[in-house]
Amino acid sequence: MIEFLHITKHYKDTRVLHDISLTVQDGETVCLVGESGSGKTTLLKMINRLIDPTSGQILIDGADIAAQDILTLRRNIGYVIQQTGLFPHMTIEENIGLIPTVTGQAPAAVLDRTCELLDMVGLDPHTYLGRYPAELSGGQQQRVGVARAFACDPDIILMDEPFSALDPLTRASLQDEIIQIQSEVHKTIVFVTHDMDEAVRLGDRICIIDKGHILQYDTPEQLMKAPNSDFVAQFIGTNRIWSSPDLIRAEDIMLREVETCGPQLSAMRALEKMHHAHVNGLLVIERASRRLLGMVTARALQAAPDRQAPVSRYMQTDLETIHPQQSMVEMLPVINQDRVALVPVVDDGGRLCGLITESSLVTTLSQPYLSDDEEVSV
Ligand SMILES: Nc1ncnc2c1ncn2[C@@H]1O[C@H](COP(=O)(O)OP(=O)(O)OP(=O)(O)O)[C@@H](O)[C@H]1O
Ligand SMILES: [Mg+2]
Repeated sequence: MIEFLHITKHYKDTRVLHDISLTVQDGETVCLVGESGSGKTTLLKMINRLIDPTSGQILIDGADIAAQDILTLRRNIGYVIQQTGLFPHMTIEENIGLIPTVTGQAPAAVLDRTCELLDMVGLDPHTYLGRYPAELSGGQQQRVGVARAFACDPDIILMDEPFSALDPLTRASLQDEIIQIQSEVHKTIVFVTHDMDEAVRLGDRICIIDKGHILQYDTPEQLMKAPNSDFVAQFIGTNRIWSSPDLIRAEDIMLREVETCGPQLSAMRALEKMHHAHVNGLLVIERASRRLLGMVTARALQAAPDRQAPVSRYMQTDLETIHPQQSMVEMLPVINQDRVALVPVVDDGGRLCGLITESSLVTTLSQPYLSDDEEVSV
């Protein structure tokens, strides 16, 4: 765990960081995002003590790094920067193996590890071990940069815009690589980027920094749903969530005021209730627990031979339901299937939380095409 405690940084009279406090949990990828000059690199370089704070403390696993031996500290921290920082006169093998060799690991073990790391970043060891950095493309060099950061198997990896000089396709494939590697190794990663798309893809949490202040530190999902300022909203891009359907959950778009009735209500009363509420169906729930039992439609009740009978006799019980946390991507197949128009949202305990209707979906899907002041009626 990395903790920044009241960190400030001054250069002469200029304050570039103002009272920054933030915690990065073990195994978490945190993206620092902000405009040029906002202080991202300064903050990052404090973690491996390339820059010292003017005041405040940084703790790693509870210990103040200012009191630690700088080399021991850095050995536990991989570092990847935009300009790769590969040594041009060393082969790829020597570049990756440098620190492990310097720290006294046996040559055979270093070579094994180097091959393993090249494999990990998608480069064939036999092809690339003997090459020099200039004989690699920008993307390949950056893959080597990533491999090198993992060489000493550090707990922490710092990345400062590692992919920003690469073309979009190469960049996307390196992002995939990082996601894949991270799903296996669970390092603590602090990743600086200008690119909000990159931050949303990679970050478990995103810290938005402006002029040396933290504006918001949250999950990508929360930032999109609840930006705490106009700046954050603008930075994130207001329509971003609509282009990330996997981040839209049933609970975000469900109707919460759902017309319900108990199983004992007579068919006739249920029809009256629908008439008054202007709906053509009711969800049948167990009153005390709100457990969903079924659904009755006006059509079924109008055809009912005995309108004094309880609705439970005419309700449909084989309902498709979804969980409040299910994403839009998971919902669509359920909704498309049999052209179900109403899908109850039901929690782990079988309790009714809300209802997805065709119109709530249509509203959601049309959101990006509407200006802010246009009202949609459901
Ligand atoms: N050695 C220095 N002396 C004086 N000012 C500095 C020094 N290093 C950085 N700064 C200033 O500190 C501020 C933060 O710089 P920093 O490099 O952390 O920004 P950044 O967010 O990483 O920007 P970019 O996205 O352009 O890399 C900037 O205004 C910069 O000019
Ligand atoms: Mg920077």
